[in-house]
Amino acid sequence: MRTVQGILSKLYTENNLTKDNMIWLLENMDKKGKELLFDYARKTRNRCYGDRVFMRGLIEFSNICSRNCIYCGIRASNKNVARYRLTKDEILDCCKEGYDLGYRTFVLQGGEDGWYTADRVADIVSSIKELFPKVAVTLSLGERSYHDYRLWYETGADRYLLRHETASRQLYERLHPDGDFDNRRECLFSLKEIGYQVGAGFMVGLPGQSVYNLVEDIYFLKELNADMIGIGPFIPAQNTPLGKEGGGKVEDVLVMLALVRLMLPLTLLPATTAMGTLDPKGREKALKAGGNVVMPNLSPIATKSKYQLYDNKICTGDESAHCRVCIENRINSIGMKVDMGRGDSLVHLN
Ligand code: 5AD
Ligand code: FES
Repeated sequence: MRTVQGILSKLYTENNLTKDNMIWLLENMDKKGKELLFDYARKTRNRCYGDRVFMRGLIEFSNICSRNCIYCGIRASNKNVARYRLTKDEILDCCKEGYDLGYRTFVLQGGEDGWYTADRVADIVSSIKELFPKVAVTLSLGERSYHDYRLWYETGADRYLLRHETASRQLYERLHPDGDFDNRRECLFSLKEIGYQVGAGFMVGLPGQSVYNLVEDIYFLKELNADMIGIGPFIPAQNTPLGKEGGGKVEDVLVMLALVRLMLPLTLLPATTAMGTLDPKGREKALKAGGNVVMPNLSPIATKSKYQLYDNKICTGDESAHCRVCIENRINSIGMKVDMGRGDSLVHLN
């Protein structure tokens, strides 16, 4: 007979599960089962990475986007957004401030903005590498050509974040009117092939998303062998087609985080800003469910409030130095420690 406990202990020791068992687990999990799941996830995280949380400095360099993802606040059709683009010097200033605060990973994230040509991005990456030796550079600017990805890798970029968003073709096509499901997957496999540490990930609580869809997400991540996995709740954004829908639940995200930790023990798992937005203790809860990365914002204070993928995003009025301390206190409050090192993925190193 199947029991929640039995399936969880199998998952804990084998780091694998049949799809059928995972669905059964999700449909039958009670409060006690969740506690056991989080406990196993924490132990697995501690065994692989210890009790440290890696810090990444996030620089949101452009909110200009040519795409129209129906959940996203900065989609091209949203005319209510004050658009901006950071210059190379402004990006380097953010890095300087971050470097002085101790950050050794910079994540450059932006919309799909054609102004940042392959050469412009390559120039920015090589300047960061030159000015701040030994830092890791992570890029996150959407779907680009194999040629662009390779050029940036050769210029020194170490990692690339491109959430797959959902592994269900049908749901993907509904959410991305101008998207191409196959191309997005191809991008992820190309990035791996080129040599990047690759981050994928998905949202939880999207309108029309089923438990089966979420199980598909986890199996896709396993197939990709993702180095990092960003999981957050869907949060409605005003002036978007999904602006009046219900959002995802913190509890449901925690279950996904813990399952992912057990299925991919060596992956890096951020406690996302979206979790902190839905629940004042959301990021702490995510770390207690197996997470081990946080990505505080290093963008200039003048632009922080303009990068609103969803409503009520936290920290948009806070100085980078303030978040640096705030996050450290939060991490310490749950008995974990900040790690300011590069924090490379063990998936990649193994
Ligand atoms: N709610 C939650 N997450 C969102 N993202 C975009 N819009 C939203 C939203 N409304 C996520 C996407 C994207 C990442 C940068 O932010 O998953 O890949
Ligand atoms: Fe920004 Fe707490 S992390 S204010």
